[in-house]
Amino acid sequence: MFSAVRSCPPADRAGPLAQLRAATRAHHQRIDRLMDLRRMRDPGHYAGVLRVFDAFLAAWEPAVAAALPPQWHAWLDARSRRPFLERDLAVLGIAPADADARVPSLSSAAAAWGSVYVMEGSALGGQFITRSLAEAGLFPHRGAAYFHGWGERTASMWRDCRTTLEEQLADPRALADACDAACRTFDTLSNLLESALHERTAVA
Ligand code: HEM
Repeated sequence: MFSAVRSCPPADRAGPLAQLRAATRAHHQRIDRLMDLRRMRDPGHYAGVLRVFDAFLAAWEPAVAAALPPQWHAWLDARSRRPFLERDLAVLGIAPADADARVPSLSSAAAAWGSVYVMEGSALGGQFITRSLAEAGLFPHRGAAYFHGWGERTASMWRDCRTTLEEQLADPRALADACDAACRTFDTLSNLLESALHERTAVA
């Protein structure tokens, strides 16, 4: 389990999505700097990023499923972008991660929803990353499937996810747990990227 670099800001009166976004803004900026869009076109850097996501998702998907009631498992399975990642590794001849990552502990359904916010939201940034990768000759069918994800369906799937998060995190205590878990999810991935890419960045 990783500790947050900086604890989340206290909840305010904004809606759940606005609060999750505000709580994690600096954490998003940190991971954005670590991944570095321009360097994603460097094959070594890109391979390192893919292997970090591979190690992370291998542990994260079961952890989220374990923390959410069974009625959500089909919903989660239908959103998994891990098969895309495995396809990228195979197409590019990159060895899968050596071992699963250690992921943040998700001790409640609310915490799991906070973590889901991070990974589902990352599909939005993935659309920007996809355009950048295309300039390096990496396309959804050839090495860029994970970040392309659901492509044109991304916006509608995000809307559906937002509605679910608004419903599940209406209670302020649940939202506080979710914000904390969302920050820790970002930090876990950032720490893994720092180690794999030998970069150093801190939350701004
Ligand atoms: C180079 C790396 C990245 C870039 C350039 C990037 C860029 C963006 C952009 C432009 C958006 C807004 C998209 C929109 O509103 O249509 C976004 C949203 C988001 N990204 Fe990233 N992203 C990156 C990496 C990540 C990663 C690795 C994660 C988490 C694992 C992440 C999590 C999120 C989340 C949760 C949102 C939704 C924010 C909200 O609207 O509440 N991003 N990203």
